[in-house]
Amino acid sequence: MTQVAIASAAQDHVSHRLRRFIGDFAALLTQTEIEGEILKQGGALLADLVRHDDWLPDAYAEPHPDYYRQYVLHVDSAERFSVVSFVWGPGQRTPIHDHTVWGLVGVLRGAEQVTSYSRREDGRLVPRGAPVHLVAGALDQFSPDIGDIHQVSNAFDDRVSISIHVYGGNIGAINRHVFEAGGIVKPFISGYANDALPNIWRGALDTHNEHIGAVQ
Ligand code: FE2
Repeated sequence: MTQVAIASAAQDHVSHRLRRFIGDFAALLTQTEIEGEILKQGGALLADLVRHDDWLPDAYAEPHPDYYRQYVLHVDSAERFSVVSFVWGPGQRTPIHDHTVWGLVGVLRGAEQVTSYSRREDGRLVPRGAPVHLVAGALDQFSPDIGDIHQVSNAFDDRVSISIHVYGGNIGAINRHVFEAGGIVKPFISGYANDALPNIWRGALDTHNEHIGAVQ
């Protein structure tokens, strides 16, 4: 096998995991609109995806020296869900923020620290328990119904961490909020760091041909 063929086979493997995850998640959302089921069954799909750290292309694992990065990997055509690679440089952290839609997080590489908050009627934020340490393979979930406000950081000061996020909408375009000291609430839209999506269809032709029994 040539070097080019070896590289191509590896890329097919990369795109296959993400392609299968996206297809399975879309099928789940067609089966149910019950949030608890989406988080439970979708969490199992995400756990399976982050169990292997061999599929995320380097372009979507690149840290920025000053800011954490959110690379969009997929947005459902009906914007029912989006998949994002969240890349933390050493010591980087989010502000305290909400999402306004359900979300699932699976740690792919390194570790994250998550502090969840409740918002009192007077606007003050109160931590909901101690910070949670999520290592590679661990999952987290949130939604407006079960708790939607948190602050997340790279658990490491000396290396990159990466998690895969799934949200119940096109998260890069959703109006949401950052919570600052003194109860100040600021609207924000996160956007995405990348201009190009990964090609999840590379290598799909062979699989497709197997199904339809293509003639050479
Ligand atoms: Fe978040």
